[in-house]
Parts: sequence; structure tokens; C-alpha cells
Amino acid sequence: MANLSTKFLALVAFSLLLLSPLDLVKAQVPIAPGLSLTFYSKSCPNLESIVRKRLQSVFKDAGLAAGVLRLQYHDCFVQGCDASLLLDGSAGGPSEKSAIPNLTLRAQAFRAIEDLRNRVHKECGRVVSCADLVAIAARDAVVLTGGPNYNVPLGRRDGLNFATANATITNLVAPTSNTTTLLAKLAVKNLDATDAVALSGAHTIGSSHCTSFTERLYPNQDPTMDKTFANNLKDTCPTPTTNKTLDMDIRSPNLFDNKYYVDLMNRQTLFTSDQDMYTDSRTRGIVTSFAVNQTLFFERFVISMLKMGQLGVLTGSSGEIRANCSARNSDNLFISSVVGDEGSHASQF
Ligand code: HEM
Repeated sequence: MANLSTKFLALVAFSLLLLSPLDLVKAQVPIAPGLSLTFYSKSCPNLESIVRKRLQSVFKDAGLAAGVLRLQYHDCFVQGCDASLLLDGSAGGPSEKSAIPNLTLRAQAFRAIEDLRNRVHKECGRVVSCADLVAIAARDAVVLTGGPNYNVPLGRRDGLNFATANATITNLVAPTSNTTTLLAKLAVKNLDATDAVALSGAHTIGSSHCTSFTERLYPNQDPTMDKTFANNLKDTCPTPTTNKTLDMDIRSPNLFDNKYYVDLMNRQTLFTSDQDMYTDSRTRGIVTSFAVNQTLFFERFVISMLKMGQLGVLTGSSGEIRANCSARNSDNLFISSVVGDEGSHASQF
């Protein structure tokens, strides 16, 4: 008997060795009920290639890719991955888009999603949600800037309502947060310290406005910041409110790689929320492990993106498939009926 179980364990260990990194990811991140990896295989088989090809042609440098990747975080953390971030305001109140943390999202990134929706709906009809397009586009932003590829579980539906400004601020993490606050905000979403460090690694591409970090320079310079780095930041941002932007990863701003963690170890990152992860003993080891091992970072990043990308998803008959990402269908009857799809009536939307 003992012999049998030893053999069994050896077999399990052997088959684990045969698993590809993707299988390991699958084993660690369950797919949420209602989502699947083949969701559109019949209704929109070319979906992912339409998106990939289009983004390949519109991403000129990592800037727009970064903007698109950031959209997924700002969508999923607030009320779940339901594309509520994309809705314009209505008589019901100002939109999520107009809440302070979202004011630095790139308008061009919102336009890129709407452009994808238009192309995809032209080919397949109104079957693919804006929420899924955000998730696919974010993955492509990672891949097209040099990061890891992964399959995105699909089948999200679009939310009917956006969150309030207060809910938006509460759910997103401020750049002034220390690690205690960062971990607490992520724990609410069942994301742990490794997720916090891995997801922040998205700051390996893209840029930030001076106003997002000048509190670390004025009136007093944050002592944890490298002095030469701080002086260079002051050159670009001579006042707390200078309206300029700066690359976030000084080593390789256009490449999705692990250099952001090397920046952290050299105290050369912009936000307290970034830098404090290297000061805090709960996250310092994780930062170091990613700085010395890019493969490990990529594997952990994919796991965390899959977790984040499935937060609070609407599936089945919840929500809707929007005919225009910035308006729910009931506010948008004309466009709904023009786009049409399954021959349904506008009154059904
Ligand atoms: C959890 C803590 C996080 C904080 C405090 C934070 C904060 C910020 C801030 C303040 C900016 C600069 C905005 C500006 O001034 O223009 C920024 C940019 C960015 N963030 Fe985060 N972020 C966090 C997590 C994430 C996550 C989870 C992702 C994606 C997985 C992400 C992706 C990005 C990207 C790609 C940019 C650059 C955007 C661009 O160039 O347009 N961030 N973040």
C-alpha cells in the first residue's frame, strides 16, 4: 500500500514536470463560472486576431499600450470587470471616467477600445462585450510590448451602471499609499502580497504626470528616493503642479520587462506605493525575486492578471452587450438599432 502511494506521488510529480507554464497558471487560477476560453469560438471566431492585428498597427510606442493596460485595472477594481469605466455620465450623475483617479487615463485608450468594438461588431454582430474587449486588449498591450502571452477567459457582459466617484476613489489605490494600505485594498479583492507586487510591475511601461508624485519632492524630498533621480525629476517637474509627463521605468520605458523591480531596488520609482514595497519586509523579498528572475515575474504577472481580470464579472443574462462602449443600450436606442445583430428589437436592449 505504502509502495503504491509512493508510486502515485511520483507519478503526480512527474506529470507536474510535464505541465507547461500555461497549464500551471490554469491550475492556479480557476476560471470564473460563466467564463470560458472558447466563449466566442462559434459566434466570433476571428475576435482575437482582429484585436491583435488592429492593436499591432495602432501601437506606435508603448504609450498607448500602457494606456490600454491601465484601463483594465481601473475597470476591474471598481465594481468588477464590467466596462462601467467606459460609460459616459448621464442624468444619473457624473461617470466613473470623471472621478479623479481616472482623469489621467488616456482618451486615446478609450477610443482604441471603441474602435475595436466597431470592427468586431461589424464582423460578428453585437455579440462581444466591451468588458471582454478591454481584457483582450490589455493582454495584447502586454504581449506587444514584450511581455508574456496568456489566454483570456471570456464571456464577461457589460454593466448597466457606473460607480460613484467615492466608490471609484475607495477601490483604486492612490500613489501616495504605503504598502499597508496597498495590501489592505488588494486583500478586499482576494489579492495577496505577490499579486500586489506583480500587478504593480505593469509600471514597467508608460508614463506618469508630475502631479502624481510631486508630493515626494515638495516641500520636502522623500529620503527613500535616490538623490540623483530626485534631482532629475525636479528638472522635469520644477513645481508641484507642472503639467508634464515622465516615463515610469527609467531603464526600459517601452519594454514590458522586469526592470521596474531593478528601479525599485535602486530607489528610482515615482510613487510611494511602488517604492514602499521595497522598504516593507512583507514585499521586499518578492520585489527582489522578480528583479533577478524575469521568467518568475512573467509567470506571477499572468496569474495576477487572470485573477484581476475575473473580479466581479457579469455573465449569463446579467448586464448586456453594449452597442457602444460609452453608453448603455437603453440610453442609446438609435445606435443599438443601427448596429443590430441577431435581428432583435431595440426594446429588448
Ligand atoms: C495598485 C496600485 C497602483 C497604483 C497606486 C497606481 C498608480 C498609478 C498612477 C498614479 C499612474 C500615473 C497616472 C498619471 O499621472 O498619468 C499610473 C500609471 C499606470 N498604471 Fe498604475 N497604479 C497601480 C496599479 C496598476 C495596475 C494593477 C496596473 C495594470 C495591471 C497599472 C498599470 C499602469 C500603467 C500601464 C500606467 C501608465 C499609463 C500611461 O502611460 O498612460 N497600474 N498608475
